[in-house]
Amino acid sequence: MLSIGVDIGGTKIAAGVVDEDGEVVAATTRSTPATDAALIEAAVADAVAELRAEHTVVGVGVGAAGFVGADRRTVNFAANLAWRQHPLADELERLTGLPVVVENDANAAGWAEYRFGAAIEAAHMLMVTVGTGLGGALVMDGQLVRGSAGFAGEIAHMTAVQDGQWCGCGRRGCLEQYTAGTALVRTAKRRAAAGDPLMGPLLQMAGGAKKEIDGPMITRLAQQGDPGAREMIDELGRWLGVGMASIASLLDPEVIVVGGGVAAAGDLLLEPAREAYAKNLTARTHRPLAPFVVAQMGNRAGIVGAADLAR
Ligand code: BGC
Ligand code: NA
Ligand code: ZN
Repeated sequence: MLSIGVDIGGTKIAAGVVDEDGEVVAATTRSTPATDAALIEAAVADAVAELRAEHTVVGVGVGAAGFVGADRRTVNFAANLAWRQHPLADELERLTGLPVVVENDANAAGWAEYRFGAAIEAAHMLMVTVGTGLGGALVMDGQLVRGSAGFAGEIAHMTAVQDGQWCGCGRRGCLEQYTAGTALVRTAKRRAAAGDPLMGPLLQMAGGAKKEIDGPMITRLAQQGDPGAREMIDELGRWLGVGMASIASLLDPEVIVVGGGVAAAGDLLLEPAREAYAKNLTARTHRPLAPFVVAQMGNRAGIVGAADLAR
């Protein structure tokens, strides 16, 4: 039995046909039109049509970067996209003629890692996706934790700094403003605007235009050994570790899986995260230290998890 999984991220829409073992048998992508819900749906419907032309599927699971209601049909709010009380499943069912289930994007990715990937043996998992935004997924006692309204696991909007940076959610000081692509890009643009020589290679990669700087450029440069990019990824990793330590006091996870685009930086992100985590974890000499592991499903996690949840 095949189903389609769609991952609607802040930058990119990824879609794929997935089988019951979590294998992606066909895939396609579109860029995310950030400002208009109808354009996002049109792009998703277009991707679904492309995939259906070659495969027979039973339904569509959609991972959406926002607060998805407990009925798994409505996106009530999104910090980085245009959705407000938006009936996403209704709209997509109308456009595709297929049954649609909506889940938070990070929840979908976390579910995939738990079912098929890095956390397959762990009953208590915390997954964090470091992409444009900061996503969270909790699997506790083998269950995806969804909360009362469906909004559990929104670790992006935990307060990291009182009266800190403004966030797309309308509040200040959210963790996402210190440890996600948005934070990386904001920092890089400011440093470039101030003429920081360490931003030279990045600015060059952006063709000399600081407004063209994006997260993947910084990740790529860091992988190539660029000191400025490495410094920013390192700083992001330390914030990540501090945030995870605080979540660990509440939830006591067995493993922390790190996914999302910035996770492509691998140990450049994870090492500082591990260090800051260990340093900030309460009772740290009296408890096991949850390992930080890179998501195994890579950027397919959202697709695979959403497709699995749709079955
Ligand atoms: C949103 C989450 C989403 C995450 C990753 C956050 O800003 O609030 O719903 O899972 O970004 O896309
Ligand atoms: Na989530
Ligand atoms: Zn926020």
